[in-house]
Amino acid sequence: MKTYHIVTFGCQMNERDSETLAGMLEDMGYGYCPQFKEADVCVLNTCSVRENADKRFYGVLGQLKNPHEQNPGRIVCVCGCMMQQQIHIDKLKAKYPWVDLVFGTHNLHDFPRLFRNAADQHEKIVEVWKDGEPIAEGLPAKREYPFKAYVSIMQGCNNFCTYCIVPYTRGRERSRAPEKVLEEVRCLAAAGTKEIMLLGQNVNSYAGISDGSEGSPFSGKTGFAQLLKEIDKVEGIERIRFMTSHPKDISDDIIECFGSLQHLCRQIHLPVQAGSDRVLKRMNRHYDSAHYLSIVEKLRKACPDIAISTDIIVGFPGETEEDFMSTLDLVRKVRYDSAFTFIYSVRHGTPAEKYEDQVPEEVKHERFNRLVEEIHRIQEEKSAAFQDAVLPVLVEGPSKTDDKILTGRTESNKTVDFPGDQSLIGKIVPVRIVKAQTFSLYGKLI
Ligand code: 5AD
Ligand code: SF4
Repeated sequence: MKTYHIVTFGCQMNERDSETLAGMLEDMGYGYCPQFKEADVCVLNTCSVRENADKRFYGVLGQLKNPHEQNPGRIVCVCGCMMQQQIHIDKLKAKYPWVDLVFGTHNLHDFPRLFRNAADQHEKIVEVWKDGEPIAEGLPAKREYPFKAYVSIMQGCNNFCTYCIVPYTRGRERSRAPEKVLEEVRCLAAAGTKEIMLLGQNVNSYAGISDGSEGSPFSGKTGFAQLLKEIDKVEGIERIRFMTSHPKDISDDIIECFGSLQHLCRQIHLPVQAGSDRVLKRMNRHYDSAHYLSIVEKLRKACPDIAISTDIIVGFPGETEEDFMSTLDLVRKVRYDSAFTFIYSVRHGTPAEKYEDQVPEEVKHERFNRLVEEIHRIQEEKSAAFQDAVLPVLVEGPSKTDDKILTGRTESNKTVDFPGDQSLIGKIVPVRIVKAQTFSLYGKLI
């Protein structure tokens, strides 16, 4: 049997796309190969969000240079966000002759046809579309886990934050019909999936148009809160999560769902990006720190023990020490359960690329370290509160270092390790926390 391997860079959206690509390759008769250099087909699904991801991609691509030493008939395919930028296509054409097929984020559904052409013709095929069409339905998927699944509800982004490349690589917002989303969730539940993660660049602005199917609970335009309410009723789904939420679009209706829906996890990822109003304005985020804090207050009122995580960028152009102190101040006020912190990375083609007051590298790094220290301090304190608590844990698999130890996640998305039998994988079991560490918990099955 011919084999494939997919290397995925970047966010959950890309991971979900890779599941579709894997499903397509398996439908074409290819089997999974764990070693990427040995596979007959190697797909690299790229990410553009920061320079680091660009560099890692070129590093991996470089390792595929010598097919004769590795696998003479190998087909190399490259797709994802980087391929939506001409600069990278030109570079691949000029310097990477071993790439056989290049396609983008908007024509992923056409991969089987493009792939067959590339395999038959033995010449490089580059086909990238500028804009997205309505989201293609009915594509296959090879899901990573049987018990938890990503469900994409929308694609693209209309927000044009000034640092971000995503609106240029993923196009405008397009929402799937709510009936299609519900149908996918029902199928997953019927197959035993317990947890679903609804995905979109900005799920709060979901606006799906009903396809009018018979018996549908939807009509006309559906908002995110209404979609959540219907998904909450699907039998078998015990945990619902979503990401990402833009603070400017989170409605009271969505906030109330945390208090009223039985299966919505008490956890939200709410990127703040910065605590300084001046920086937020230059980032084009459409909210200020007071508004962000008022959302946090409402969330905690609706659901007192909700876990809140965030994304923060340090060193955005023009960020002063005072601006940075406002970010630290906001972090102390919110007391995040966890945070993804990023050093600002110039992205070609974004408005912030042209800003002249770029922050020196050493200042960015120094601020980054201070921010991470503060976040970890708070995280440690918050984690300590779980000591001796009994928490339901969805068991994901054996721990990487010891197969007698299982690893799983709490409702708040914290990792818990505990001794247990592999027959528990995929089940939600009660675990008493005996050791609460900053990033993970250790427990005993009860
Ligand atoms: N530099 C650094 N971080 C960025 N992000 C997006 N663009 C950039 C950039 N140019 C971060 C944001 C976003 C997360 C997915 O990546 O915090 O929420
Ligand atoms: Fe990028 Fe802003 Fe859109 Fe998020 S909301 S994908 S940060 S432009």
